Amino acid sequence: MKSYNIAVIGGDGTGPEVTREALKVLDAAQRKFGFKLHYTHYDFGGARYLKTGETLPDSAIEEFRKQHAIFLGAIGHPDVKPGILECGILLKARFALDQYINLRPVKLYRTEDCPLKDKTPQDVDFVVVRENTGGIYTGVGGVVQKGTPMEIATQVMIYGRPVVERCVRYAYEVTRRRNKKKMLTLVHKCNVLTHAGDLWVRTHKEIGDQDYPDIKQDYNHVDACTMWFVKQPEWYDVIVTENLFGDIITDLAAIIQGGLGVAAGGNINPEGVSMFEPMGGSAPKYTGQNVINPIAAINAAGMMLDTLGEREAAAAIDAAVTTALNSGKIKSLAAGRMGLSTTQVGDLVAATV
Ligand code: IPM
Ligand code: MN
Repeated sequence: MKSYNIAVIGGDGTGPEVTREALKVLDAAQRKFGFKLHYTHYDFGGARYLKTGETLPDSAIEEFRKQHAIFLGAIGHPDVKPGILECGILLKARFALDQYINLRPVKLYRTEDCPLKDKTPQDVDFVVVRENTGGIYTGVGGVVQKGTPMEIATQVMIYGRPVVERCVRYAYEVTRRRNKKKMLTLVHKCNVLTHAGDLWVRTHKEIGDQDYPDIKQDYNHVDACTMWFVKQPEWYDVIVTENLFGDIITDLAAIIQGGLGVAAGGNINPEGVSMFEPMGGSAPKYTGQNVINPIAAINAAGMMLDTLGEREAAAAIDAAVTTALNSGKIKSLAAGRMGLSTTQVGDLVAATV
């Protein structure tokens, strides 16, 4: 029987509650599809940081390298200054494990969860492939004359051809495997970013012309893309974009798919160890009340199985989520308004996997 070692970081706030439900669904999936998941739990997060000053030690990164994947509930603590946990845990794992893809499926399950007028699940169904370790996030830049009236600070959108190319290739592969519109839209701002944008434009075209003649090439400026998300989301199939633009457009995308209750993401190293997480934060005000929506975490678990190669099980989880959401039992996707508890939603999905 195939078996996989999974590092589990429940994390802060409601993170452990949604993680519990995701593992419940994974347990149902492994029983049904005949594989085994071995979990190692880690207590990284705000609470541990406040106690020990430690975010994500190098020794943990070394242990993660030996795992097949990482599952992360949520990171974020009201008593920890913004930036410390994000940089110390999330970004550290992304960079250290070279998780160079951020994969964000954008799928609306129910018409009533979409804030856009007249849009249905048929209209909101695309994937964003965000470059996840380059660009402005590399931190290249600096500051001089800090605190003076003449202060200057830079943060550089730095990209090399190999980093762009591996991301673009991954996105073409996603497009081909999805086999829907077979269209890969590059989102950038090449009318202004004439150096970095042009590198993306040429790479998108060259790789496409050479190796993916079956895939249509499409381009949007990032500002226009945000309008089209609202006006005509049905245009999109797969989007590829650089890191910061991807960060911004995937939040907008999360809202049109029904919000943080369902949105999940994968920080993927296609040749290494990937990390999966629900997009919602630690939601401190809902902690311990059993009212947070676990579906985003369940979707993240499904993506994890898909990336591990357990595609049938992943598809079964997605089908179970669809069934649960259309059962009439879940009133809303918002925390506290579901009409069911966190545990009950997890039970409902687990029962139909
Ligand atoms: C995300 C988050 C992170 C990012 C933060 C928490 C560092 O917003 O995963 O989209 O900016 O990438
Ligand atoms: Mn973000």
